[in-house]
Amino acid sequence: MKLRYFGHSAFQITTDSNKKILIDPFIDGNPNSVVKAKDLSADFIILSHAHGDHIGDAFKIADKSKTLFICINELANYCIDKGFKAHNMHIGGGHDFDFGRVKFTIAHHGSMTPDNTYAGNPAGIILSIGGKNIYHTGDTGLFYDMKLIGEMTPIDYMLLPIGDNFTMGIKDAAKAVELVNPKVAIPMHYNTFPVIKAEPNEFKSIIEKVGFNCKVMNYGEEISI
Ligand code: NI
Ligand code: MN
Repeated sequence: MKLRYFGHSAFQITTDSNKKILIDPFIDGNPNSVVKAKDLSADFIILSHAHGDHIGDAFKIADKSKTLFICINELANYCIDKGFKAHNMHIGGGHDFDFGRVKFTIAHHGSMTPDNTYAGNPAGIILSIGGKNIYHTGDTGLFYDMKLIGEMTPIDYMLLPIGDNFTMGIKDAAKAVELVNPKVAIPMHYNTFPVIKAEPNEFKSIIEKVGFNCKVMNYGEEISI
């Protein structure tokens, strides 16, 4: 299985059976992206919430007959209204898809589409694929229930924001890693805009000092997981 980072909170998972899963595909509006939305395709698009920097180019990339959106109920309905296929879910619920399991968690944030449609609750996403558990926290502040999330599902890769202002900053993100106890932490949602400027290596050194592994991914980098 492969994990690719496009910058901001946008990731692509390619499963061993070559299914492509995009999470929060904000590509063309991201000054750091080394790819264009037109060059991407997806079997599944999972959205943590509806803000423009997460819904991003989802409708540009999605194929109306092939791509399945997986989102919180209200956002899934919004995708259906736009003519796409979607699987409606909600916080605390999991579902087995052909590639693996998706479960939504709480996230402390907001969720409204770029055209100001209320999109339900924002969420975090736990993916269980091929024996690996990946927790994409979405945009969120720090919350103590992250400890419960890590206890219930041992996390291999935790993808979490460090950019501050809209989400956790470095100090809170380091605490979040302690609570979840992942095998590897991957920082996201930083340096896209001046207001979320952050130094990922500062985050890396803080969590490595207390025994955690951190992988700072470059824009466009793909790793095997
Ligand atoms: Ni947001
Ligand atoms: Mn955001």
